[in-house]
Amino acid sequence: MKTLLRNLVSRSPRLKGLLQRGLRFMLPGRGVSNHYVEMAGEEVGRESVRLRSAWKDDGLPVRQRELVDQQLAAYRRGDAVDVFDVMVKCLQGLRDGVGKMRVLEVGCSSGYYSEVFEIAGLDLDYSGCDYSDAFIAMARQRYPREHFDVQDATLLGYADKTFDVVISGCCLLHIPEYEAAVAETARVAGRYAVFHRTPVVLGQPSKHYRKQAYGVETVETHFNEPQFLQLLADNGLQLQATLTLDESVVHGLGSATRTYVCRKNSP
Ligand SMILES: C[S@@+](CC[C@H](N)C(=O)[O-])C[C@H]1O[C@@H](n2cnc3c(N)ncnc32)[C@H](O)[C@@H]1O
Repeated sequence: MKTLLRNLVSRSPRLKGLLQRGLRFMLPGRGVSNHYVEMAGEEVGRESVRLRSAWKDDGLPVRQRELVDQQLAAYRRGDAVDVFDVMVKCLQGLRDGVGKMRVLEVGCSSGYYSEVFEIAGLDLDYSGCDYSDAFIAMARQRYPREHFDVQDATLLGYADKTFDVVISGCCLLHIPEYEAAVAETARVAGRYAVFHRTPVVLGQPSKHYRKQAYGVETVETHFNEPQFLQLLADNGLQLQATLTLDESVVHGLGSATRTYVCRKNSP
């Protein structure tokens, strides 16, 4: 049985990624995300406000980095890491050969995607921002050659179209005012916006959860997909590609994690 499973996993990087992520999500107290509780009604607004700053917890960067360092080591060895592979594939598809692309990652945590891009050989002009002082302090210490700012995704301090590509780095789900964050991403993007690792639900309204992330209580929204795509369109973002990290649909109801690549409409 063990050999059969090992053979199956080695033949399917996708299955390997799913299992790796599934195990991390399930390990009590040690995984990235666990103890999900679905919220409804007034609780959603109340808890979103109470936990808005949860990711600013000073203990989070070290705990997140423990897992990230393992993923980066695997990636450096040449192993497939699905979330990294998807992001790299997106950026490779956007290069047009005209100079270095200016890329901003919003919600960059400790800036580890700059290392992913370096390992993948992507020559980019990378900047990262995050609303957590602790994450940005770690990012500056780890990657002194890159540029990092403490910024809230809902009110970015950059001029319109400062960057060729803006990556919304798996942070919308944690932001109660996610519409404002999408608008800001679109505003500072000159050409493309990428909404990485976005959890969506299919055939059902958006879902709201309280959960533990690295042992810290946070909230998480899984967006109704058509409504999310409409929000992108309303902000002048034209969907160009969708990359699916995982998906499960039964009788029209389901969920997925996707990376959406959008081209910004010309003014
Ligand atoms: C799940 S981590 C994503 C890290 C990385 N970008 C990735 O894709 O793996 C979410 C990040 O979003 C940041 N974040 C949450 N709310 C934010 C906000 N309002 N403005 C900026 N960053 C925020 C958190 O501090 C955290 O570093």
